[in-house]
Amino acid sequence: MTKLYALVPAAGTGSRMGEGIPKQYRMLAGKPMIRHALEAFCSHPAIERAYVVLAEDDAHWGTFDWSPLSEKLAVLHCGGQTRAASVYNGLERMGAGDDDWVMVHDAARPCIDRNSLDRLVTELSDDEVGGLLALPVADTLKMDDGGRRVSRTVPREGLWQAQTPQMFRKKRLLEALRLAPDRTDEAGAVEALGLCPKLVPGDPRNFKVTYPGDIALAETILRERE
Ligand code: CTP
Ligand code: MG
Repeated sequence: MTKLYALVPAAGTGSRMGEGIPKQYRMLAGKPMIRHALEAFCSHPAIERAYVVLAEDDAHWGTFDWSPLSEKLAVLHCGGQTRAASVYNGLERMGAGDDDWVMVHDAARPCIDRNSLDRLVTELSDDEVGGLLALPVADTLKMDDGGRRVSRTVPREGLWQAQTPQMFRKKRLLEALRLAPDRTDEAGAVEALGLCPKLVPGDPRNFKVTYPGDIALAETILRERE
């Protein structure tokens, strides 16, 4: 029986958020941001264990009480210079079998919901490759001319916006990240192997909290769910 694990890279500095503290630790709806996603994974019956990848010099994790999640939570102090390096280091150190599934999820997507996780697991559990949550692009897309003038309109048909979690088998994901460490998501690295990850419809509320202006929306979504 293959098992399912979560891996949450949380070794970033949150430079675009521009606060004194890395954004994953910023308080959001009464909890440090990362806690929301960790609760979603730790409370999911199909998930064996949730691994968090922290920066080696992380000074914030230990200031919070994680004991309510401790049954399934495991901490790895092996963050890298890039998100991909943090994921790679975490995969190398986590205790999972080669063919076990790993769901990689940004600590900065606190609004991940149970329905989306269930959809991902259901659609991928018998899949050869694995895949990711994603949203069909809704807006009209413009390419600029290098300045701030439109050079052309890009057809949006067939375009999807990638989210996380992205779910692949451990060994294949390690192999992909070794081959293509510069891709900005796991699916991109798996594509570099010549494989076609499956697109599983996500939820717009599972957006990545990146700029200060994103905080209020995330807070509203999380409070409504309480
Ligand atoms: N991440 C990581 N290791 C890095 C860089 C990022 O584990 N070297 C993690 C972040 O902590 C976050 C996720 O990858 O959970 C998505 O990254 P992003 O939203 O870009 O977060 P930051 O890199 O922290 O933010 P910024 O790019 O604004 O500095
Ligand atoms: Mg970043």
